[in-house]
Amino acid sequence: ITMRWQVLLFLSVFCLGLTLGQVSYSIPEEMAKGSIVGNIAHDLGLDLKRLKSGRAPRIHSGDTTEYIELNKERGVLLIKERIDREALCGETTPCALHLQMILENPMELFRITVEITDINDNAPSFASTEKRIEISESAIIGSKFVLEKAFDADIGTNGLQSYTLHPTSNFALKLENQADGGKKVEMILQKPLDREHQEHISLLLTAVDGGQPRMSGTMQITVNVLDVNDNAPIFTKPVYKAAIPENSPQGTSIIIVSASDKDRGSHGEISYAISNSKRRLSDLFQINQKTGEVILIGEIDYEKAKLFQVDIEALDNGGLSDSSKILIDVIDVNDNSPQIKILSKSDSILEDSPENTAIAMLSINDPDSQKNGEVKCSINDEIPFKILNTMNGFYSLVTEVALDREDASQYNITVTCSDEGVPSLSSSVTLTLQISDVNDNPPVFERSSYEAYIIENNTPGLSIFTVKATDSDWNQNARVSYILEDSSVNGVPVSSYVSVSADSGVIHAVRSFDYEQIKDFQFRVKAQDGGSPPLSSNVTVKIMIQDQNDNAPQVLYPVQTGGSLVAEMVPRSADVGYLVTKVVAVDVDSGQNAWLSYKLQKATDRALFEVGLQNGEVRTIRQVTDKDAVKQRLTVIVEDNGQPSRSATVIVNVAVADSFPEVLSEFTDFTHDKEYNENLTFYLVLALAVVSFLFITCVVVIISVKIYRWRQSRILYHSNLPVIPYYPPRYSDTLGTGTLPHVYNYEVCRTTDSRKSDCKFGRAGSQNVLIMDPSSTGTMQRIQSEKSILDEPDSPLEVGHCSLYQLSRLHDLCHFQVRYFA
Ligand SMILES: *[C@@H]1O[C@H](CO)[C@@H](O)[C@H](O)[C@H]1NC(C)=O
Ligand SMILES: *[C@@H]1O[C@H](CO)[C@@H](O)[C@H](O)[C@H]1NC(C)=O
Repeated sequence: ITMRWQVLLFLSVFCLGLTLGQVSYSIPEEMAKGSIVGNIAHDLGLDLKRLKSGRAPRIHSGDTTEYIELNKERGVLLIKERIDREALCGETTPCALHLQMILENPMELFRITVEITDINDNAPSFASTEKRIEISESAIIGSKFVLEKAFDADIGTNGLQSYTLHPTSNFALKLENQADGGKKVEMILQKPLDREHQEHISLLLTAVDGGQPRMSGTMQITVNVLDVNDNAPIFTKPVYKAAIPENSPQGTSIIIVSASDKDRGSHGEISYAISNSKRRLSDLFQINQKTGEVILIGEIDYEKAKLFQVDIEALDNGGLSDSSKILIDVIDVNDNSPQIKILSKSDSILEDSPENTAIAMLSINDPDSQKNGEVKCSINDEIPFKILNTMNGFYSLVTEVALDREDASQYNITVTCSDEGVPSLSSSVTLTLQISDVNDNPPVFERSSYEAYIIENNTPGLSIFTVKATDSDWNQNARVSYILEDSSVNGVPVSSYVSVSADSGVIHAVRSFDYEQIKDFQFRVKAQDGGSPPLSSNVTVKIMIQDQNDNAPQVLYPVQTGGSLVAEMVPRSADVGYLVTKVVAVDVDSGQNAWLSYKLQKATDRALFEVGLQNGEVRTIRQVTDKDAVKQRLTVIVEDNGQPSRSATVIVNVAVADSFPEVLSEFTDFTHDKEYNENLTFYLVLALAVVSFLFITCVVVIISVKIYRWRQSRILYHSNLPVIPYYPPRYSDTLGTGTLPHVYNYEVCRTTDSRKSDCKFGRAGSQNVLIMDPSSTGTMQRIQSEKSILDEPDSPLEVGHCSLYQLSRLHDLCHFQVRYFA
């Protein structure tokens, strides 16, 4: 360009040499007023005076505006108006002002060209400083967005040079040269957009020129990222945990779950659902579609399920979803009492079972958990058992001590189990245990030894008495049998004396005992039970035989011989009290039965002799005279004191003489005479007895018949009450032995109307009553008669110990008396 300006200047100077001069100047635009453009006087070689004289040179320009003026004084061109190149020339280059200066004298024309050069006085600018763009967040990478171009009035290097975009995180700027020399400005998506991350992006587009200094213009670009349903709902937790007590009522709220969705609007609207395929869960739980609250709609039982896993789902309207799960712990409530199950048990146990014998195994189960399921078991007090916890949940019932069936044969064992819950629940079961018998007790006799009495001359087979042993065991083990133990009595086996009934323990006499031979003996009886092995014990039995007056006294002296005759000699000179002889007798019985007394029964002369009652001494009681016969015969009776007593008689022959031959002649037919007398006496007594008996019998029969008839008529006439005839008890027994026992036991005998008293009855009519004192056994006191029969009630009739009044019973009494005396 400079070369061109010089060529131009040269050409102008060439022309000027002809007719006019030409000068060019170059100035930048926007110079201040008064600034010097150029020293024209100098450049054109003009004299300043010429400029001052004459008419002032005029500067013409094609424009109306005068930008430049001439200073005549100094001969320089000055800036008159601010020059804006852009306004003067626009984009036209070069931009110049063409001026003419005309001088007179000589008239000369000068051409002045002032070139205006550009300065960077304009910044690039955009048509609008703000721009909004909406881009979907789903826009793909590489998407283009066209931006506005900027404008810069300057030209050349001062014109628009480049653009920058900031920040460049998401977008990059792309400039594309166009055919007209302009540039296409585009923004390219480099990185995906995320509304949820950055909904609005602010970008600053800057246009820069190339001037010195550089100038720039900016545009604010706002990108609105449009939402797309690109976010699924997300639950706040991957797993929710909740707990609910079992048996909670329906409608109980369990938990509220929530999920969030970053999307907006309907894309962010979430609905909740239970996604378990198991029907049971949806029968139990329900989730509120909108709020996410889970409520209980069924019944839950800890014992059936302790934990529920509920799968849940959150779904947005765009169809995206998330899942999570709720673990619902069921909290145990003490709603189950312990269950006692008897695994095995013994119904009975032997009494000799040792300590710690198991009698039952129990399993205890409480489906509740922890304290609610912790069970303690106990048994009722005061029984010899204990319960042991063998394993978890298993108990065994064992004996605590050795048992004794004889103490208790049955136990009711109540096992009570209770859990530790609050309140505690319990249950119980009762076992009945029988203690079975073991033969551990021997039979025990009621006494440590027995003594029994038996009267001699018993009938063989008579039961003497009974031993009894008891065994506290049971059944067979308690069945006692009695065994006579072998021993010998006086060299004879005891079994020939007594026998023992094995079942009853009754001891029988085997033989008839004779007190005179054996007074007592003893043996052992063994009682043995039926156990296996049997147990036994023994007892000593002493049998004492009681004497009976079964032996008459026996006279030892004087000896009774058949034919020969023994006589005691009494001299005629014997004094009073002369001891003639002594009758000596013995009785093999004992006691009273052997206590002998002597009496003189018969004597030739009773006045001459006496017999000592106790000692049997025969003495004279008077002086013997000559008139007394030589032959004296005394019959002495020796009686014992038994009941009834037995006696023996002995004949004592006494010869009253001074010499033996005198005696001999007198005693020749003595024996014969005696026999005859004895026979005669016997027959006389017999005849008398028969006659007396017949008489008494007749009298009794007659009286009886009379009374019987009379009584029959009375009863029929007066009374409707029956009469109980009275017989003394054991009446017939007395007949059996032939001896009346000393003591009678009379029993109270009542008539049908004996209501008033135990002792006295018999009031009206013909009723005949025996009144007795029951406290005085053995004594019949009174028999009251009816007054109509006997008007003297106070005349007692003595019979034995009995006082009788009763005449209406006369035939009974007679009967009684007869038997008694018989
Ligand atoms: C055990 O119980 C039964 C029946 O309940 C009863 O008959 C029996 O007397 C009881 N036994 C004891 C030793 O309590
Ligand atoms: C009888 O019993 C006693 C103990 O009471 C015992 O010592 C004795 O051996 C027993 N006799 C027989 C023969 O069994």
